[in-house]
Amino acid sequence: MTKDFLKVLLAENEISARVEQLAAEISKDYTDKEIIAVCILKGATLFYSDLIRRLNIPVKLDFMAISSYGYGTESTGEIRIKKDMENDICNAHVLIVEDIIDTGCTLSNLIEMLKQRRPASIKTVCLLDKPERRKASIKPDYCGFVIEDNFVVGYGLDYAEKYRNLPYIAILEPKIYEKTM
Ligand code: IMP
Ligand code: MG
Repeated sequence: MTKDFLKVLLAENEISARVEQLAAEISKDYTDKEIIAVCILKGATLFYSDLIRRLNIPVKLDFMAISSYGYGTESTGEIRIKKDMENDICNAHVLIVEDIIDTGCTLSNLIEMLKQRRPASIKTVCLLDKPERRKASIKPDYCGFVIEDNFVVGYGLDYAEKYRNLPYIAILEPKIYEKTM
């Protein structure tokens, strides 16, 4: 499978060390508070499960699946909820857990949508940030790694539903996606 990758960008131990730091920071900021941690399916699943088990504050788990419209052609950033969360977030502290921010359209739209449900607070943590292609003005409250504009896979991230189960993050060999374009 390694012929599919240009290189490993983040090794398993680098990821886990950074997740540990993020969890410590988040736990400190929310001392004496309970949060609802919302995993954005499917990309954030591995990050989410590693992060929440290292938090030492009370956490309720929840999950959302979103699809975005308009990429490639016109990035309107319009989103559709494929699976909504189960908790009522009114007056709750919400932490959105996302895999990667690219244009920022998905996350900024999601935040606007969730604000209408009147949470006490809403913050975001993303494992990876690719600021080069940003369209929506959004900055995550917590970020694992700022990376260059490459297509990455592994540790939850996919290309055509593949590679999500890898324990590391790799840069995908461009030939892989150029073939299908
Ligand atoms: P945005 O609305 O452009 O910020 O879209 C972010 C979403 O695009 C992420 O949740 C991913 O699903 C997907 N995405 C963006 N860049 C990558 C990447 O390098 N690898 C895998 N998925 C990506
Ligand atoms: Mg995603």
